[in-house]
Amino acid sequence: MKPVDLYLHNADQVVTCTPRSPGTPRRGSDMASVHMIEHGSVAVEAGVIAAVGPAEDLDGRYAGKRTIDCRGRSLCPGFVDAHTHTVFGGARAAEFEMRIKGASYLEIMAAGGGIVNTVRYTRAATVDELVSSASTRLDEMLALGTTTVEIKTGYGLSAPDELKMLRVIEQLDRDHPCDIVPTFLGAHAVPPEFEGDSEAYTRCVIEKILPEAAAWYQSSRFSDREVPLHVDVFCEDHAFDLAQSRRVLEAGIDAGLKAKMHVDQFNDFGGVAMAMELGAASVDHLDVTGREAIESLARSDTIAVLLPAVNFNLGMADYADGRAMMEAGAVVALATDLNPGSAPCPSMPTVMAIACRYQRFTPAEALNASTINAAFAIGQGDRTGSIEVGKRADILILNEADYRHIPYFFGGNPVHTVIKNGQVLNP
Ligand code: NIG
Ligand code: FE
Repeated sequence: MKPVDLYLHNADQVVTCTPRSPGTPRRGSDMASVHMIEHGSVAVEAGVIAAVGPAEDLDGRYAGKRTIDCRGRSLCPGFVDAHTHTVFGGARAAEFEMRIKGASYLEIMAAGGGIVNTVRYTRAATVDELVSSASTRLDEMLALGTTTVEIKTGYGLSAPDELKMLRVIEQLDRDHPCDIVPTFLGAHAVPPEFEGDSEAYTRCVIEKILPEAAAWYQSSRFSDREVPLHVDVFCEDHAFDLAQSRRVLEAGIDAGLKAKMHVDQFNDFGGVAMAMELGAASVDHLDVTGREAIESLARSDTIAVLLPAVNFNLGMADYADGRAMMEAGAVVALATDLNPGSAPCPSMPTVMAIACRYQRFTPAEALNASTINAAFAIGQGDRTGSIEVGKRADILILNEADYRHIPYFFGGNPVHTVIKNGQVLNP
């Protein structure tokens, strides 16, 4: 018998989300299968998955220093939240009320509220204050099963304030059990000191803020660990047009960053085609993306990251057409977009619940979109997102024997125990 740190014994279902061909996400119709082992066990050694298979095969071979009996429960990979704005100061409950009374998200933004409102609070906050509030959010996300989180800047919008956000993100990665992947979103909105002159601010991002962010990355712990820095832009009315978005992304790519894009949330400017031309890792939102762009997305390796908690929160009737994307053969992921404006939602199970109801994802598709495909969307597909030998032991023990309960019941927490890098966090 081989001794291992942790032995998860005999779960009714081990939902592995292992991709069909190693090193790739699950694409289109492959998303319908989760690669499940019934009555399965998992052995964990030194924070890494050492074995996974039927309990009857593994039981005689591995002896856990700690063993958890998983009968009556299921196991699945820790969720990967591939698009968040987890670091921010303040809150925007007043805008929530304004929207209830009829104002739209873009109207509030055009009137000087929205993102810029959060910029004011974030600039006024210290690194310690931002670390503390974001850490509380990450605790909540982790308890809900999220073990890897992408976090964007974009509420600083000046060189010192964007760098402050990057330092906060780095400290969270150092101190919090969640693994973090950073994204530079200097082109999130036009800050008050550039009001009415998005062109001047675009130049400032390209010539000043981005080079400082890229230099910071080189000496950060992320670069040491080969975790990429992405560059993102909000391509939308009252934010950045297509030409400005292209310049920001190209400058980021020239500086060695990988591209992402907030695109087609309210208006389709042709951003998806441009993002694919630039080899973007992902295109995010895609609420109004047309048929042609969906077809070409399906032929590319760019991942479609859908954020249905936004549509839900903004009370919208229409959602991104995830069904058409999967049917066309695209790689689709889900994320919360956690932020104080469009999506104050820390919960991947809630996002899956919304995707199943309003975008007609099956539970299997929603789970693949929240694990293996989400991991690939942030360059972590070789490290997490599936229960596979050699990957980080980021595993959830679910309350129920049937994983479909994750999106079926909603509003609660389907997670019994979180295992992060092999550590049992809430025994
Ligand atoms: O992804 N759309 C742009 N950015 C965020 C919203 C940020 C905010 O409202 O503070 C989003 O929805
Ligand atoms: Fe976003």
